[in-house]
Amino acid sequence: MKTKILKINPNKISLTKIKIAAAIIKKGDLVAFPTETVYGLGADALNIQAVSKIFQAKGRPFSDPLIVHIAEITELYRLSTQIPSIAIKLAQVFWPGPLTLVVKKSKLISDIVTAGLDTVAIRMPANNIALSLIREAQTPIVAPSANLFGRTSPTTALHVADDLDGKIEMIIDGGRTKVGVESTVLDVTTEPAQILRTGGISVEQLEEIVGQVIINKELERGLRSPGMLSSHYSPKAKLILVEGDKDIQVADVLGYALKCKERGLKFGIMAKEENQEKYHGFQVKIIGKGSELKNCAANLFDILRSFDKEGFEVIIAEGLEDRGIGLAIMERLRKAASDR
Ligand code: TXA
Ligand code: MG
Repeated sequence: MKTKILKINPNKISLTKIKIAAAIIKKGDLVAFPTETVYGLGADALNIQAVSKIFQAKGRPFSDPLIVHIAEITELYRLSTQIPSIAIKLAQVFWPGPLTLVVKKSKLISDIVTAGLDTVAIRMPANNIALSLIREAQTPIVAPSANLFGRTSPTTALHVADDLDGKIEMIIDGGRTKVGVESTVLDVTTEPAQILRTGGISVEQLEEIVGQVIINKELERGLRSPGMLSSHYSPKAKLILVEGDKDIQVADVLGYALKCKERGLKFGIMAKEENQEKYHGFQVKIIGKGSELKNCAANLFDILRSFDKEGFEVIIAEGLEDRGIGLAIMERLRKAASDR
């Protein structure tokens, strides 16, 4: 299959182009498209054949459920039979935006979407290309991140092409995604609500609206949200994550760097801008200023992919602060580090 690339200006969306992409979704084929978090691989959520093509293209196991993307809050009532008031409240505050709500599913949603669970994950993305596509396709769209299974999520159309060229009908190129990490997955079927995956909406932001939320204890082991397998977010290179206080961190990074050098490995350092000079003479990629966590999140996956593209064997990564969106960054780095 020849994958078509359709460039759409996010600031001046061409409805003609959106209609071409929407026709592919309606016909039951796959279109990758930008959201505010990462690129998604879209299919008609109500067409079982179309949904199964997603698993095939990504090499994703059927045991990993998908997120259904909608363009109107009222769609919740078609896709779910039981919507707790907290879900409405959160949707009103954070949608469109990087929050996915897990609720009881209605009959409209087939088992292939939910991996047989009686719940469904739903979100409204804050990206006008994505929203127009859903509206024009006149159907909810399931979309996992548009990467091969186990690889880091794509934040540009080029990342998508690197993984899925020749395997899907179309990629909409709408530029770099803004948030850079996936949506927060929140299960609102339990009380208090539970975070199954950290992401673009922080724990602090959620707690401001609903009081306490629980971060699922099994989250680290990746059991509760089946997509959170440890192989996720992993670059091909071995990743060493260096946490701890500022000065110790730099010393530790240098320690690992010297060890890698001794062994003749091709290694690079992912560092905060303020520490760049400390690693003079080594290959360094800058994630951003440590105090600008949003910017770091936006850069994360692109940097990890660029290390792979350049054939690095080892990435030594400086840890960031565990607050706000920093927690989502750290969760992804910890998983990548624990992988091998
Ligand atoms: O930001 C995002 O969420 C991106 C963009 C494209 O929207 N999508 C995304 O999808 O990250 P994916 O398939 O890569 O991750 C979906 C996550 C997985 O961890 C999956 O296990 C979880 O959502 N999930 C989906 N349905 C679920 C359910 N019913 N119960 C618990 N977890 C669920
Ligand atoms: Mg994914």
